[in-house]
Amino acid sequence: MESRLVVNLDALSRTVNAGIVVGIPVFFAFGHYVSFYFHFLTVAFILLALLNLFYKHVQKPHTLLANYGLIAQFRYLTESVGPELRQYLFSGDTEERPFTRIDRSEVYRKAKNVDSSSAFGSVRDLPHEPLLLRHSLFPVKREEIVPFSLTFGEERGLEKRHTMHSPILISAMSYGALGKRAVMALSRGARKAGILLNTGEGGFPKYHLQEGADLIFQMGTAKFGVRTESGELDEKKLTEVASLGAVKMIEIKFSQGAKPGKGGLLPQEKISPEIASLRGISPTQDFLSPSSHAECVDAASSAAFVKRVQDLSQLPVGVKMCLGREEEFVQLIDAFMEQDRFPDYLVIDGAEGGTGAAPKSFMDDLGVPIFSALPFVQNHLQQKGVRNRLKLIASGKLINPGSQIRALCLGADAVYTARGFMLALGCIQALQCNSNSCPTGIATHNPHLEHGLDVVDKAQRVYYYVKNLEKDLYEICAAMGHKDLKELSAEDLFQKQEERSCTK
Ligand SMILES: Cc1cc2nc3c(=O)[nH]c(=O)nc-3n(C[C@H](O)[C@H](O)[C@H](O)COP(=O)(O)O)c2cc1C
Repeated sequence: MESRLVVNLDALSRTVNAGIVVGIPVFFAFGHYVSFYFHFLTVAFILLALLNLFYKHVQKPHTLLANYGLIAQFRYLTESVGPELRQYLFSGDTEERPFTRIDRSEVYRKAKNVDSSSAFGSVRDLPHEPLLLRHSLFPVKREEIVPFSLTFGEERGLEKRHTMHSPILISAMSYGALGKRAVMALSRGARKAGILLNTGEGGFPKYHLQEGADLIFQMGTAKFGVRTESGELDEKKLTEVASLGAVKMIEIKFSQGAKPGKGGLLPQEKISPEIASLRGISPTQDFLSPSSHAECVDAASSAAFVKRVQDLSQLPVGVKMCLGREEEFVQLIDAFMEQDRFPDYLVIDGAEGGTGAAPKSFMDDLGVPIFSALPFVQNHLQQKGVRNRLKLIASGKLINPGSQIRALCLGADAVYTARGFMLALGCIQALQCNSNSCPTGIATHNPHLEHGLDVVDKAQRVYYYVKNLEKDLYEICAAMGHKDLKELSAEDLFQKQEERSCTK
């Protein structure tokens, strides 16, 4: 029979609690007869005894404290540092979530521009993904690779079309979810790397503008920054934002992978006068974001809303969504076809996407993951003969070149990442974005915590992360036998198979 050391908690707590009481006269006597300094222990034991009395007889919410007194605190203490102990001491390199240590280290190394090669062999059990990449027997020379370029708005012949020269974009993160230094570092880094930065749905992009990056202005369901008092589109404000030189595109967020179909509550205590003015809301009451745009009640009205924003802004306009019901997506595409107007791009955000804050069950249980959603969307657009009417961007844990190439193979024209860039800024995955206590000063407005985030240094890391990603993407593309990232297709993927049979 298995034998195990069992701690008799009841006996232990009785002994400890009695020991505390006995300690008081003992140390008092020592203080009196041996050395005055023992009185410090007398006082400490009196305080412990009082605390014990409080735990056992006054407080009500904690049963363990009421039953066992002081020693129950060890459980709470151990539980509270559990994530840190697991992260630093006990978790294996492939265990942590949402991102394993291997995946995070790859980002850190790229962002610091240090060698990210590994030795001896992969530490993953291959195949670690259902889809792996096929290389070619006849790789292309690196210098033969065609530099990436993608033009948004060309399908509509827009005058203010936007061409980008990197397949990577910084995905939506609002000032609000992030602190101002993080936003400024992202903006400065994006400018240096020549990539687009999405403002997130936080309203007027004051800090994004300060560092001079090219921006995608995001309009969430609450339309912060471009809303009327009743939450509808304020056309004048939208036209003003669209006329800012730095704003190259507008993105209408229908939903996001981490909390599809959910609005959000912004509690009054988080609405500083500055946030209220940037978002165009009252600082004196909680703000409830709707789960969808007031103007979008079905496929036809949603398509009409996209067209309205395009006409007002005269910029490329994209739509961001997480795939849910496939038939609704089909209806939406039908509506675009009927109105003969498509968004200039579509972002498919996988259910594995991140957020500043969302209910756990929304993160865990709702929405279609990116590598299931993307093939469906790509196939449907192709079947309908409309794939050439828009660009497709993918997001959802696409922080490293392997997963990014997989997304490009499955139809994406470009890749968004949010948390990849948070990691590049130094995020340690403390999972505290919703508590204003982010230890790395990224997802917080606490000046003490923001103090350590050096905008210039972190902007350089954003730059290196992008450049090293691009380098790897081009090298993998060459190894796969392609001169252009646009040549990648589902044919380049190897589907995990149980066993391959062998003919003799
Ligand atoms: C801190 C944080 C804030 C975010 N804020 C927004 C937002 O304002 N609007 C939005 O559409 N998505 C937002 N997202 C989702 C990301 O833009 C992205 O879609 C998602 O995290 C998937 O990309 P990733 O896995 O590379 O992070 C946020 C994500 C994070 C981590």
